[in-house]
Amino acid sequence: MKKILVTGGLGFIGSHTVVELQKSGFDVVIIDDLSNSKIEVLDSITEITGIKPEFQKLDLREKTEVQNFFSKHKVDGVIHFAAFKAVGESVQKPLEYYENNIGSLVYLLQEMRNHNIDNLIFSSSCTVYGQANSLPITENAPTKPAESPYGNTKQIGEEIIKESCKAYNMNAIALRYFNPIGAHDSIKIGELPIGVPQNLIPYVTQTAAGIREELSVFGDDYDTPDGTAIRDYIHVVDLAKAHIAGLNRLLQNKNSKGFEYYNVGTGIGTSVLEIIKTFEKCSGEKLNYKIVGRREGDITSAYASTSNANDELNWKAEKSLEEALLSAWKWQQKRKQE
Ligand code: UFG
Repeated sequence: MKKILVTGGLGFIGSHTVVELQKSGFDVVIIDDLSNSKIEVLDSITEITGIKPEFQKLDLREKTEVQNFFSKHKVDGVIHFAAFKAVGESVQKPLEYYENNIGSLVYLLQEMRNHNIDNLIFSSSCTVYGQANSLPITENAPTKPAESPYGNTKQIGEEIIKESCKAYNMNAIALRYFNPIGAHDSIKIGELPIGVPQNLIPYVTQTAAGIREELSVFGDDYDTPDGTAIRDYIHVVDLAKAHIAGLNRLLQNKNSKGFEYYNVGTGIGTSVLEIIKTFEKCSGEKLNYKIVGRREGDITSAYASTSNANDELNWKAEKSLEEALLSAWKWQQKRKQE
């Protein structure tokens, strides 16, 4: 049984990936500093799969602790989620973002190298493309200067990994996520935003639940059919499965280069107004919303070309937008009752 380290394994995407790893027969050890996640998620994962993953509370910036961890645990591969992820906050706190997202990646790679662990899946983002010149966005699209320190940590992270793969003969895949949404079918795990949500779907579900008064739609003067911005919303369970596909590619030595990167999206673009309409339809709730000005740094439109992930990773998004929105809504309702 292969053992996989999942950093940030109690977070939104991390926890769903742990479930899929266990379902695929991997042994999992999680490290997480609990800065943006809850320890209860460990029990929820256990309830879903019947297997309690090993867990250690660990901040990857603590170099000595990272060294100790790797001396104790023999792992075959690493999926690295642990990072700060709030775009707006990163503009206020750039050094914290660079220290956490870059510093911890460097320590992790050093220890992987010291222990001859050469399979890494890295959590990257479609933010590396900025506003792409043509749609859907293929992996050949050039990366654009990052709009935020957060986005920059993803670009720099990819560079660091690429150079490490070349110099130390390591193997890594960066997955460039589009917009992950939804919750596990069991409604036992989902997104746990701290404070006022910055992302659209948690804001939608909290508004429908009466926690927020009104959703602001940021801009209706974009060059899109209904004037609102377009994104590629992917169910988090589909996204989680892409990690297993990437990992299997590395473990089975099917990768053609030391460092590869793939878009992970559905290939379908959906506008903010379409999200609102679809949410209202599948939840049966009326959503309070108003149109306001654009949010700084937002792009007009982004959706993925998925052919590389389909062909090389043998992976494809299977769940619909309706399923994703309904699961997010059920998750919200469950949390309100707790
Ligand atoms: N939006 C609203 N109202 C809100 C929140 C969002 O209208 O209250 C709009 C945004 O303007 C955007 C769309 O909904 O058009 C999606 O916004 P999100 O904040 O949910 O997602 P983003 O596409 O802005 O950001 C996401 C991730 C980032 C990542 C980025 C890459 O959250 O981590 O994709 O493009 F960097």
